[in-house]
Amino acid sequence: HELDMKIELLEKGGYDYFMLKEIHEQPNTLRDCMRGRINADEGWIRLGGLEDYASKISKAKRFVMIGCGTSWHAGLIGEYLFEDLARIPVEVEYASEFRYRNPVISEKDVVIAISQSGETADTLAALEIAKEKGAFLYGVVNSVGSSIARTTHAGSYIHAGPEIGVASTKAFTGQVTLLTLMALYLAHHRGTISEQYYRKLITELTLIPEKIKKVLQQDDKIKYIAAEIKDRQNAIYLGRGYNFPVALEGALKLKEISYIHAEGYPAAEMKHGPIALIDENMPVIVIATNRSAYDKIVSNIQEVKARKGTVIAVVPEGDDTISRIADYTIEIPETEDPLSPLLSVILLQLLSYYTAVMRGCNVDQPRNLAKSVTVE
Ligand code: G6P
Repeated sequence: HELDMKIELLEKGGYDYFMLKEIHEQPNTLRDCMRGRINADEGWIRLGGLEDYASKISKAKRFVMIGCGTSWHAGLIGEYLFEDLARIPVEVEYASEFRYRNPVISEKDVVIAISQSGETADTLAALEIAKEKGAFLYGVVNSVGSSIARTTHAGSYIHAGPEIGVASTKAFTGQVTLLTLMALYLAHHRGTISEQYYRKLITELTLIPEKIKKVLQQDDKIKYIAAEIKDRQNAIYLGRGYNFPVALEGALKLKEISYIHAEGYPAAEMKHGPIALIDENMPVIVIATNRSAYDKIVSNIQEVKARKGTVIAVVPEGDDTISRIADYTIEIPETEDPLSPLLSVILLQLLSYYTAVMRGCNVDQPRNLAKSVTVE
């Protein structure tokens, strides 16, 4: 037993929990995900699995992304990326719903299964249904040789390495990075974005690991904010566009490991319901990094402040408008909108981590949850 404890200590590499170690690994895991697949100087993206079937995949009438939990959130970001850049319609479905609702699927569809473990029963069963209906199946998987990897026709591994913490962190950013590579590859192949913008996004994507390092340096500030939410009963996360799925993921992370009830919403939906919940006891975490909707987010924040909610805002570096109205602001380095989830989510991972630790929770093994759900 003592030996087991020593081994675990070694495996955690000096961190208190695997989750914290895995959060800090992200600059490296994203580099591993992109290695050999992207070249900013020469302006190319290569993805083995995709290139082998490029003509088939780029002619798809529709993509359907399926997954569960955090992997489903990665799919939602994939939807924004594929539609915005490659101009292909996308649907994102919970694998569990897809499999039981007699979905309309044909051989013209490409179904992308997103899974860290590659063993999630619902995702696997959904894939079998899509296969029967003749769809082309693509896997975005972490575990090499897993059931989902073996069931799909083609795919790309995210190369995040083993993820031990039950709450997914580095697998999520790996999935999003891989979907970004796919969207850019398809956009270029289909001629749906300008050469200049394609080059710009490739360059920015290769800079993400360094920018994540900068985000990770804000530990102390995040601990300070975690102390503010640790005794609250509820939290609301708001984001727009590419950062709407990040709001969902931030809320899920908080629920999973700190057991604080949290919900994510598109910021503009707040007025259609959740605004009724806002009072001085409600922390509202706003991801306000989108350049395209900045003014709208400022007015969302004003609405929260007018009802005495506590605003914690994730803002672009150098922002001075939101920092004047929000109670707390945390900065992320400038990047292009489609890539901003890869930076903003890191802060939310850390925020839930520190909140959970302060509440005395077992971060790596939260109650009632399993790392891989191989039953219905
Ligand atoms: C479980 C885990 C989640 C994970 C989900 C999907 O519920 O607790 O963290 O997001 O399964 O897992 P997968 O391995 O398919 O990505």
